[in-house]
Amino acid sequence: MLHRHGCTTVIASRKFDRLKQSADALSIATGQQCLPIQMDVRKPIEVMNTVDEAISSFKRIDILINNAAGNFLTPTSGLSFNAYKTVLDIDTVGTFNVSKVIYEKYMQNHGGVIINITATLYYRGQTLQAHAGSAKAAIDALTKHFAVEWGPNNVRVIGIAPGLVAGTGFAMAIGGVDSDAYREYVSGIPLHRESAKVDVAHAVLFCVSPAAKMITGHTLVADGGSWLTFANPVYNIISPTASNVKSKM
Ligand code: COA
Repeated sequence: MLHRHGCTTVIASRKFDRLKQSADALSIATGQQCLPIQMDVRKPIEVMNTVDEAISSFKRIDILINNAAGNFLTPTSGLSFNAYKTVLDIDTVGTFNVSKVIYEKYMQNHGGVIINITATLYYRGQTLQAHAGSAKAAIDALTKHFAVEWGPNNVRVIGIAPGLVAGTGFAMAIGGVDSDAYREYVSGIPLHRESAKVDVAHAVLFCVSPAAKMITGHTLVADGGSWLTFANPVYNIISPTASNVKSKM
């Protein structure tokens, strides 16, 4: 979406082969350059190197989208100390690391927009999600802190909280698009539809555009009203087999 609106982009994550495939596909589809860089958001040195490479390639970074996340469904009893820390490290520390480095190396002097992709999990204490919910709560706090501290340098910081998005790990975790569980989930969303990936991209486009020039420090929920109604079933926790409730997303 950003390519279609004139941006060149850098995409960064741990698995270079997958990144390269995505970058090639994006460039072919849109005619805009997309540079893939291998980076673990948890490693400050890799983040600094990536930001240096991005600036040296494109001379500017106007938009940062913090989208790295790790998640799985499990009750806290099935969550090891390391599992909890891993999710906080990827989601929250990763968001902190990349934002801090890009702010200090570029946006501090040139302004920009930072988008933090977050989730509504902690609004009602979602079952099986203590790790991801606390990571996202901390990200939403960072959205406010960064917005206040960096506003005078013309940096806007906005969170976007999607809900069920078709074709993602969470969609698979609740059974996939052809399952009864999936259909039931969708029927419980006030707008009776899940998001497509492009709906999330449209929310990003709005937030980074001049149409949102007075918006900062806010988290926009873009989930069809789902957070108001979706199930938060405690039987997931209290069932005798709860410690087996574990699924990859
Ligand atoms: N349930 C409970 N614990 C889990 C788990 C699950 N489904 N998946 C991983 N963990 C635990 C691991 O057992 C490990 O803890 P341990 O050392 O005490 O055994 C810890 O989490 C770290 O896992 P590891 O795979 O070593 O870390 P990683 O940094 O390579 O990857 C994830 C972490 C979260 C990215 C990885 O588990 C994953 O691929 N998850 C699914 C994909 C995903 O998260 N997509 C994003 C959706 S928003």
